[in-house]
Amino acid sequence: MSQHKPLRRLTAVDIASRKGGEKIVSLTAYHAHTASIVDPYVDFILVGDSLGNVMHGLENTIPVTLDMMILQGMAVMRGSKRALVVVDMPFGSYEECPEQAFRNAARILKETGAGAVKLEGGKHMAETVAFLTRRGVPVMGHVGLTPQSINTMGGFRVQGRSEAAQKELEEDAVAISKAGAFAIVMEGIVEPVARRITEAVPTVTIGIGASSACDGQVLVLEDMLGLNEWVPKFVQKFGSLREHIEEAVTAYAEAVRDESFPGPDHVYGEKVAKA
Ligand code: KIV
Repeated sequence: MSQHKPLRRLTAVDIASRKGGEKIVSLTAYHAHTASIVDPYVDFILVGDSLGNVMHGLENTIPVTLDMMILQGMAVMRGSKRALVVVDMPFGSYEECPEQAFRNAARILKETGAGAVKLEGGKHMAETVAFLTRRGVPVMGHVGLTPQSINTMGGFRVQGRSEAAQKELEEDAVAISKAGAFAIVMEGIVEPVARRITEAVPTVTIGIGASSACDGQVLVLEDMLGLNEWVPKFVQKFGSLREHIEEAVTAYAEAVRDESFPGPDHVYGEKVAKA
């Protein structure tokens, strides 16, 4: 019999239990191969609706559909073994009423096998978060800069700069926490508010552009790898994949043009039948 314990995938409950402990690490992934690369190093993989920008060249996440999220969620589940996989609920798939949110969250969990969903919004989404969690859907909240509200926010703006905005943000996070979210992403918010919220709520907070005061961090994989030309202020480039790809593609194009590729090693010969 094998001595090895079977590899168990992390759950929303595991992530929730990390309050104040070792920092929680997360990255986005949308494909099986990137999921398999990041899986051993992160606690959860976020199949973010940022796939609209990153994979499809969209200007914002509004056009992303539930079917797009499910397709990439399935791919990420196939590519990963260990990390919790969280799939974003796209714009229009949950805001109408808790029942609509449950119907679509259930589709995500059933069709992808992912362990949780993420949805954007504060106080006004608390009822929906409670409705889902009571019915077996682990929910990650997302407050602060919520890209699906770009049309009402008037652009991608850092949140919490005025006293009134800070109060609003704190109320949002507390409401989502009380509603039962197992984690809350805080995006694009000023450091003192991120710290105050992290100290005030028993729920783990995951920052993106919200300082190291949070219980964990998430970044868009392609941003931190240096695949995109432009990176936001809060991103550190931990790699320079764009340059590596350009180098490889240049070398390939040259090799095809000067006929050094394909070489003898890459060519199939005829099978010689033995007499
Ligand atoms: O869609 C996404 O990638 C996200 C992260 C930026 C938190 O929601």
